[in-house]
Amino acid sequence: MCGIVGSIRTNANVVEFLTDGLKRLEYRGYDSSGIAVQTDNGLKRVRRVGRVALMEQAAKDKGIYGHTGIGHTRWATHGGVTEPNAHPHISGDLISVVHNGIIENFEAERTRLQGLGYVFESQTDTEVIAHAVHDNYKKTQDLFTTVQQACANFHGAYAIAVIANDKPSQMVVARMGCPLLIGLGKGEVFIASDVSAVVAFTREIIYLEDGDIAQLTADGVAKLIDKTGKTATRTATTSQVSLASLELGAYSHFMQKEIYEQPKAVADTAEIFLDAGFIPQNFGKNAEQVFKEIDSIKILACGTSYYSALTAKYWLESIAKIATDVEIASEYRYRDVIANPKQLVITISQSGETLDTMEALKYAQSQGHTHSLAICNVMESALPRASELVFYTRAGAEIGVASTKAFTTQLVALFGLAVTLGKVRGFISDDSEYSSALRSLPNDIQYALNLEPQITTWASKFAEKPSALFLGRGIHYPIALEGALKLKEITYIHAESYPAGELKHGPLALVDDNMPVVVIAPNDNLLDKVKANMQEVSARGGELFVFSDLDNNVEASDKVHVIRTPRHVGVLSPIVHTIPVQLLAYHVALSKGTDVDKPRNLAKSVTVE
Ligand code: G6P
Repeated sequence: MCGIVGSIRTNANVVEFLTDGLKRLEYRGYDSSGIAVQTDNGLKRVRRVGRVALMEQAAKDKGIYGHTGIGHTRWATHGGVTEPNAHPHISGDLISVVHNGIIENFEAERTRLQGLGYVFESQTDTEVIAHAVHDNYKKTQDLFTTVQQACANFHGAYAIAVIANDKPSQMVVARMGCPLLIGLGKGEVFIASDVSAVVAFTREIIYLEDGDIAQLTADGVAKLIDKTGKTATRTATTSQVSLASLELGAYSHFMQKEIYEQPKAVADTAEIFLDAGFIPQNFGKNAEQVFKEIDSIKILACGTSYYSALTAKYWLESIAKIATDVEIASEYRYRDVIANPKQLVITISQSGETLDTMEALKYAQSQGHTHSLAICNVMESALPRASELVFYTRAGAEIGVASTKAFTTQLVALFGLAVTLGKVRGFISDDSEYSSALRSLPNDIQYALNLEPQITTWASKFAEKPSALFLGRGIHYPIALEGALKLKEITYIHAESYPAGELKHGPLALVDDNMPVVVIAPNDNLLDKVKANMQEVSARGGELFVFSDLDNNVEASDKVHVIRTPRHVGVLSPIVHTIPVQLLAYHVALSKGTDVDKPRNLAKSVTVE
């Protein structure tokens, strides 16, 4: 949610980095962007509503050149999508600030600062940072202390970068609850919300910790204090993120690329279990002890990650025979809960920084839950750091806002967890059927990808419709939910999903010839039930679009369209059936001409409530 960058470059124009970095952070928000650069003619700021490319062009047109600067790409929270609300925010022509996060007590701070004579130009919470820093700086002229004093007054989550006009080779950054890293170059230093913004410039990365405040010069970190105010050292690590993984290559969209990367992403993640076996240690050093102690599981997540949790419940209860409860993180954190120290709290998050999930975990811990496991795709992000156990999926960077390969790799992780717990709990003595299912999975996904030409023929039919209904039963119901979410996220077609058995209890009233009904109908023990539900749709003139396996007697007809994967893959069928619903959403979006990778109003990483 919002991305920030900054840099001091002795021998190059900082604008080049700022705009490149912001483009790579656009997944965090893309309604407006801006940069502030210290030039020979004083501080220059460029802001634009819309994509970073527009702002970049404006900066080029103005010929902005300088060695120190900061930048921001925004997902609006406080104040509408307008240029005055775009960052950087400036105070007294002296202090410029970019900020990711939310200053919760901004109203009180604004009143205080207005009392001191500050006039606010925006509706953002961020502007209080600029004025608060400015107010202190006038007195001390010491940017570091000034930022430290200002931060002491802020409640909430933030990652900020601050520059002062009269200190052209300095920048102060602070992190609390939002990601922030420093990239070290030769005679240059970079900061960013995410490593993808800097790897084209340097791979030497320092990840700041919550409460850290650092003063930077072109030579690196001049001073750093931790949350207790003591001087601290943070060691740099070399990032292994490949630049190619951040580029589109031959693909038209990141979502398309990421859908097609699934055989590899899934194989890479499955390799953890196939190499080491289904052993607790895959989840962390203490996992064996924890897995022996627990009597139930609670999973907390948001969005697509929540649907992977819903799918996992079936595996955990059938394979590991452990009671599993799944809850949307933003709901869990605001209700009275009954803590059970023997319950394992699992959080699932692609980004590892979704605020609702993070807060739900903290809440669970505060209520007396002692065991936690994070399933995450981003190394060292907030959730794994706050959890006792961790499992990293190997999806690689996911840039399209609509999650695809992160979802299927989460499912692999959760399946591996179910088998591992099944063994620890004595329900599985021979795991070979599970490892062979995992071994075949990349090929099965590839076969599903090969269905793309058939799926394309359906897309134009959906593109004309205002709504669509997705049905599934059992473990495929969460996949129907995910299919509906993908469709609405990137095509703006209203889509909802029901367990097929619920159809007759309400949604059947919606069915007419204008409501396409997508059914996930693999050849499993519920197929006959699903077929009966499909009859209910056909009898009301509904048009069915069925994803199924071979040999299951679902007959195609005028108003029953069927696409079949080559075989029923058994326990991992939900993962394989995810592919066609992703491709369907993607091709409907292409037919409608929507922005596949950056759907309106959304962002990939949601670090606000
Ligand atoms: C946002 C994204 C979704 C994602 C959800 C949870 O809403 O647009 O794609 O599923 O956040 O994100 P997480 O990083 O916690 O998995």
